[in-house]
Amino acid sequence: MKRGYRGRLFDFSSGFYPNGPESGCRYFKDGLLLVEDGYVHQSGSYEEVIQHCDKATEIENLGNAVIMPGFFDLHVHSVQTRAIASYGKALLDWLDNYIFPVEKRFSDPDYARENTRFFLNQLLKNGTTTAMVYPSSHACSTEALFDLAAEMNIRIISGNTWMDRNAPEYLLKSPEESRDISKKLIEKYHKQHRNLFAITPRYAITSSPEALQMAAELFKEYDDLYLQTHISENKKEIEVVNQSFPNHRNYMDVYDDYGMLTPRTLLGHGVHLTEGELQRIAETGTHIVHCPTSNLFLGSGLFDFAGTSAHGIAVPMGSDVGAGTSFSMFQTLQDAYKISTLQGKPMKALEGFYSITLGAAKVLNLDHVSGNFDPGKEADFVVIDPTLNPLLDYRISASESIEDILFALMILGDDRVVKDTFLMGKRVTK
Ligand code: GUN
Ligand code: ZN
Repeated sequence: MKRGYRGRLFDFSSGFYPNGPESGCRYFKDGLLLVEDGYVHQSGSYEEVIQHCDKATEIENLGNAVIMPGFFDLHVHSVQTRAIASYGKALLDWLDNYIFPVEKRFSDPDYARENTRFFLNQLLKNGTTTAMVYPSSHACSTEALFDLAAEMNIRIISGNTWMDRNAPEYLLKSPEESRDISKKLIEKYHKQHRNLFAITPRYAITSSPEALQMAAELFKEYDDLYLQTHISENKKEIEVVNQSFPNHRNYMDVYDDYGMLTPRTLLGHGVHLTEGELQRIAETGTHIVHCPTSNLFLGSGLFDFAGTSAHGIAVPMGSDVGAGTSFSMFQTLQDAYKISTLQGKPMKALEGFYSITLGAAKVLNLDHVSGNFDPGKEADFVVIDPTLNPLLDYRISASESIEDILFALMILGDDRVVKDTFLMGKRVTK
């Protein structure tokens, strides 16, 4: 049976826009999203789409609420929620003092399940319907994530985190052990329900050359896995990588040498990349995930969103909780905006919303099934109700343009205004 949702409807049309995301913006002040069996049946102006309804179609009137595609958070750690907002100097100290001890607890399957459930509920509460996630090195933390994701029907891309040096013994696994865990998890979870597998070497510092070699080999055994890792987040980190891999020209060259730079690779942060490194990323079709709240929180540096995009590199966003300070993609965009203004290149609201919806779906090569309201796409969407935040409501009450509404939303919005999140047509919040 079809079900309709009437409100302000906003998304981006499929296709390539040489002049930037603005030209792909679709907005219907009085719009209707028609959903059937979990998929988008039609979307557009109320007047037009109502023609596709029959008498049995139930229409929910959402008034002034904005209906938009569910958000993509493409860099977040499922095992760090308990350490969010921990006072912690810079990256390497923060990892040692707060993060590794918290990740240790995910060796217990019961703890893993309970805490991963909390994590996934936080994503949904914030309107995130697709997430690319780092669990711990323990198999059971990834199992908990994929099992619960399947129960909840959220799309998760993830894999056990490989670490074989430069961290406490309790998190380390030999490359062979991590590979065996990954193989089993791929067989059990990859492409089951909405789960997808990503080979996940944590970063160069916790990886031996043997581990990187083995991770890359496993990645290449399949043609439909993803690979995720961290790069050039912090200056001290870069120094350590240069010392540990003296035969490589730079940080990017380490991953490049193992054949890890591909269109299915997502590198988190990339704050301090050189021009040469950016060029190599562009040539190989690799993606960088911008983690603005995290980069500010740990004082890592100011990522150049405009400069990176100008290389033709697609830039999705990640909350990066626990270093990130919010699961909200609105708050993530807010900090991305502030960082971009500090560099004199203010990010536009439409660029931001594109990067957390259709732009991210394209990066994942999932735009044929997700990311906007084209007929046949999975009906993952959010209902944003500005009246749930009186200040935001007051600010946009006289606003006519969608750009202005979205901009106010990304500066003032958070989980309070996410009235509902829908996964494949089913309301999953409240
Ligand atoms: N680099 C390696 N591991 C991590 C992590 O857990 N968080 C962040 N922000 N950076 C990392
Ligand atoms: Zn991270």
